[in-house]
Amino acid sequence: MEERYMDVVPGLEGIPAAESAISFIDGEKGILEYRGISIEELVEKSTFLEVAYLLIFGRLPTRQEFDKFKEDITFHTRLKLKILRMMEYLPENGHPMDYLQAVTSAMGMYYPARNTLDKEVRYWSTVRLIAKLPTIVAACHRLRHGDAPIKPDNALSFSANFYYMLFERIPSPLVEKILDVMLILHADHTMNASTFSARVVGSTLADPYTIVSSAIGTLSGPLHGGANERVIEMIREIGSKENVRPYIEGKLARKERIMGIGHRVYKTKDPRATILQGYAHKLYDQKDIHHDTNMLEIAEEVEKVVEEKLSHKRLYPNVDFYSGIVLKGIGIPPELFTPIFAMGRVAGWLAHWEEQLKTNRIYRPEQKYIGLHDQHYIPMDERG
Ligand SMILES: CC(C)(COP(=O)(O)OP(=O)(O)OC[C@H]1O[C@@H](n2cnc3c(N)ncnc32)[C@H](O)[C@@H]1OP(=O)(O)O)[C@@H](O)C(=O)NCCC(=O)NCCS
Repeated sequence: MEERYMDVVPGLEGIPAAESAISFIDGEKGILEYRGISIEELVEKSTFLEVAYLLIFGRLPTRQEFDKFKEDITFHTRLKLKILRMMEYLPENGHPMDYLQAVTSAMGMYYPARNTLDKEVRYWSTVRLIAKLPTIVAACHRLRHGDAPIKPDNALSFSANFYYMLFERIPSPLVEKILDVMLILHADHTMNASTFSARVVGSTLADPYTIVSSAIGTLSGPLHGGANERVIEMIREIGSKENVRPYIEGKLARKERIMGIGHRVYKTKDPRATILQGYAHKLYDQKDIHHDTNMLEIAEEVEKVVEEKLSHKRLYPNVDFYSGIVLKGIGIPPELFTPIFAMGRVAGWLAHWEEQLKTNRIYRPEQKYIGLHDQHYIPMDERG
């Protein structure tokens, strides 16, 4: 049969799936911008909620706009009793990403938002999703450990409240800032699997809870979220600074990959890794740290040896290299690393949903058929 289509590009690598004005990466120079503003500047001067507004609505809010957005989000942080009850029945050994996906999807039944072309519907579902994801993650963590969920404290900041709901303690200003920085740094990252998933589902005019639960499911795969958990395992395995060189040399000799190193787009150090490394130092300097070993010292030695051995392949630390160390350092258990990624990335997913709807056309790519033709049905008894 005659070939009608262009060649299939595995993973659609290099194929633009949409025009977007939300975030930008220069992988050669190590630049990441949200709406044209560098992440370094946003981390220094802004907060996650303001960044979420910037991404979703396309510009920085006025004070009045921001106060309203923040108040709306703060007001919607609670979970319905029925949602909490439903969570109690989920298996305690279920992964927090599965909880998050299931509960997000169920939220769509409590807050119907079918008319996605209505701006008000989109605004309130955006508010609810940003507001409730941290409450779900914290409640899931507590329930999995046999503890009662803690109600949000709306007097606290968005990030401090998340920490409070997890541990029933108010975080130090540094820990609060680190959590907020973590959310900012994960809020968007151009076109990637979960964002593409959000845009595809959004293009069908499905409701926002379905969109976000699909994106959470996509993020749950080990090829997307999760490398930071494996960085922690690697550093544990290495155990001491002296052991770094033989460990890395052994891995490279066996042609194994070093976790948290290398990136499809960045051919220099990931700017998010540089920022998180700085915060890891602040944590160690303040001795505000939950580690048993000096993970940072080992990690920096890994970075040094890897640079010596692999810079000719343009392999440098990516965001996951330092995010796990920082999160572990403030006492967050590894199974919550990817759910925290989702709490930040929901801003990007929602921004891409808004953008998708502006010029929407349902995604309907092609395939290249490589199967049979002109076959006939064979009765069951005659099949070999
Ligand atoms: C992120 C990643 C998938 C990007 O891969 P990519 O751009 O497709 O690069 P490739 O798989 O084509 O690898 C290019 C070369 O670098 C090597 N390489 C890539 N990442 C490596 C790593 N982490 N450790 C050692 N070598 C690595 C490959 O072996 C290959 O070498 P070769 O040319 O001699 O065969 C890859 O770097 C990786 O697996 N990193 C570790 C996992 C990780 O940290 N993931 C989180 C990403 S945010």
